[in-house]
Amino acid sequence: MAAATPAPADASDAPAVPADTVPVTLRINGKTHRLQLEPRVALLDALRENLHLTGTKKGCDHGQCGACTVHLDGQSALSCLRLAVMSQGQEITTIEGLATGDTLHPMQTAFVKHDAFQCGYCTPGQIMAATALLQDKQQRSAVEIREAMSGNLCRCAAYPNIIAAIEDAQRA
Ligand code: FES
Ligand code: FES
Repeated sequence: MAAATPAPADASDAPAVPADTVPVTLRINGKTHRLQLEPRVALLDALRENLHLTGTKKGCDHGQCGACTVHLDGQSALSCLRLAVMSQGQEITTIEGLATGDTLHPMQTAFVKHDAFQCGYCTPGQIMAATALLQDKQQRSAVEIREAMSGNLCRCAAYPNIIAAIEDAQRA
């Protein structure tokens, strides 16, 4: 009896590409990630659902609360309002990329020192927005900090501690 011969390789052997998806390359926290995503996927969902970077939080999903704040090329950005495909070619930083190894970013240290959170859900977004704010090295008053941070809501109303932490980080 003749031995069975393997079927010739053809296109059907290639890994299936999910329908309606496009290749997306994202540079996040210094690493390159290659994904296959539907074009309508928000950067926030790509971070959380596809890359399991769940430090970036989903609050309102409508650009109203600041919980999803990340940095795009060093600038504060709301990841729920941005498509992942639009973020290609930019350096994306999430809360997971802020510390250096085991050493917290000074803003993270200031938030801990000033007890600037209760439930912590808004905290990654607060810290990302605050670090972007202080990059210009300007000295701001508490009122100015409060105004600049007004897009980041805290349902626990930890605002006095958050402002104190940012003022502290600013002095440092
Ligand atoms: S989740 Fe993006 S602003 Fe609220
Ligand atoms: S610490 Fe709970 S929402 Fe801000």
